[in-house]
Amino acid sequence: MKLKLSPSILTADFRCLGDQVRDAAQAGCDWMHLDVMDGNFVPNTSFGPLVCNAVARSISLPCEAHLMVTNADQYIGDYRDAGMRRIIVHVEACPHLFRTLQRIRDLGLQPGVALNPLTPLTVLDDVLPLVDLVLLMSVEPGFGGQKFIPGSLARISRVRAMMMEIGSHAELEVDGGVNTETIASVARAGASIVVVGSAVFNEKKSIAASVDGLRGAQSPTPDQGA
Ligand code: DX5
Ligand code: ZN
Repeated sequence: MKLKLSPSILTADFRCLGDQVRDAAQAGCDWMHLDVMDGNFVPNTSFGPLVCNAVARSISLPCEAHLMVTNADQYIGDYRDAGMRRIIVHVEACPHLFRTLQRIRDLGLQPGVALNPLTPLTVLDDVLPLVDLVLLMSVEPGFGGQKFIPGSLARISRVRAMMMEIGSHAELEVDGGVNTETIASVARAGASIVVVGSAVFNEKKSIAASVDGLRGAQSPTPDQGA
């Protein structure tokens, strides 16, 4: 199964955001990941529906909003209007998660649920049947360019096993510190889609070269001698 790439624009050059997301789409990425931060649930602020809408109108790829906010319910309609295809909310931030996920689905969007690095996976026993995507954070949310937390690999495998057990077709997304060093093990552990921020939008390489590098690192050339 081909691992999907969902670039996060958090480290993109916002002076030319339209060009940046078009380059990522052109390079063969599958989704666009929009990290919304409120300075309350996470210690950082980013952008809101206005920027999300500008991105959605610049590309034909589907967009997902990752809401790192305390009052997601209040804004779901705004992100639907901004052109998002999927809305991902944090289990730690939504006291009435059933209603929140239902509202996202009722608006015709895909509901996703995100878990912080140490949130117990048992919550998924009840949540998994209600979502189209589970996002496992492999860094503490709030900033791009952080180091992948190694214990995340075991969590990915456990969620993959839970999904297989109930026959879930939900996507399993991993977010934080995914780069050419970590992408292969994340894929092997069972992720179906990865968020890639600084590994795609950086000053070292072009977006196309960065995406090619990730694809190559994910599926290294088979050993000729084998
Ligand atoms: C962190 C965000 C991530 C992050 C990914 O709060 O949810 O999407 O920007 O960035 P990298 O890939 O640089 O870790
Ligand atoms: Zn994210």
